[in-house]
Amino acid sequence: MKLLQEKIQKEGIVLSEEVLKVDSFLNHQVDPHLMQAIGMEFAERFRADNITKILTIESSGIAPSVMAGLELGVPVIFARKRASLTLNNNLLSAEVKSFTKKETNTISVSGDFISSGDKLLIIDDFLANGQAALGLLDIAEKAGAEVAGIGIVIEKGFQQGGRLLRDRGVRVESLAIVDGLQDGRVTFRKEENT
Ligand code: G4P
Ligand code: NA
Ligand code: NA
Repeated sequence: MKLLQEKIQKEGIVLSEEVLKVDSFLNHQVDPHLMQAIGMEFAERFRADNITKILTIESSGIAPSVMAGLELGVPVIFARKRASLTLNNNLLSAEVKSFTKKETNTISVSGDFISSGDKLLIIDDFLANGQAALGLLDIAEKAGAEVAGIGIVIEKGFQQGGRLLRDRGVRVESLAIVDGLQDGRVTFRKEENT
């Protein structure tokens, strides 16, 4: 997605050879115009799949998901990473290992909002090692729901998540695939350059 790649080139900050900071439009401040374009792109890619609901995870997955949900005309549900005062029964949970933080967290969604009749589109902001996506797939499976695919805003192609998911036969649609963060510069995978 050209607009997204341009935004990453213009505002992304390469923190190391592994980490790209995009706090100005995705992870802290949010650019609504760009989010709308991202939502439309996800909707276009999954329009034929009869999606009934979008499943994401707090916090940075919510903005792109809501815009995609608006475009597809479906609700958006986000998994919580912390215990909630009101979200306390009929929970569907999964364990998510974080390689970066070296800890395991439980993520949860209420079973009241996902059921076996649902066809889900899973969306997240980043795909790194794929652990969050695997947790969301686990929750979908526990609900007996079908998953049409996973939409990712920025995939880090040099980490294992994309291969892990695609090797399982999951359809992964990434709007930008970063292949390298060398010398303070972002390089994108060629197929995505159009
Ligand atoms: P994984 O799910 O793919 O295995 O990712 P990992 O545990 O490595 O990532 C932990 C957090 O760091 C996630 O956000 C993930 O989106 C984010 N992340 C991973 N790599 C990058 C990167 O290069 N740049 C940025 N900006 N973020 C990255 P989170 O802690 O769940 O935060 P949030 O959703 O509340 O923003
Ligand atoms: Na995220
Ligand atoms: Na994130």
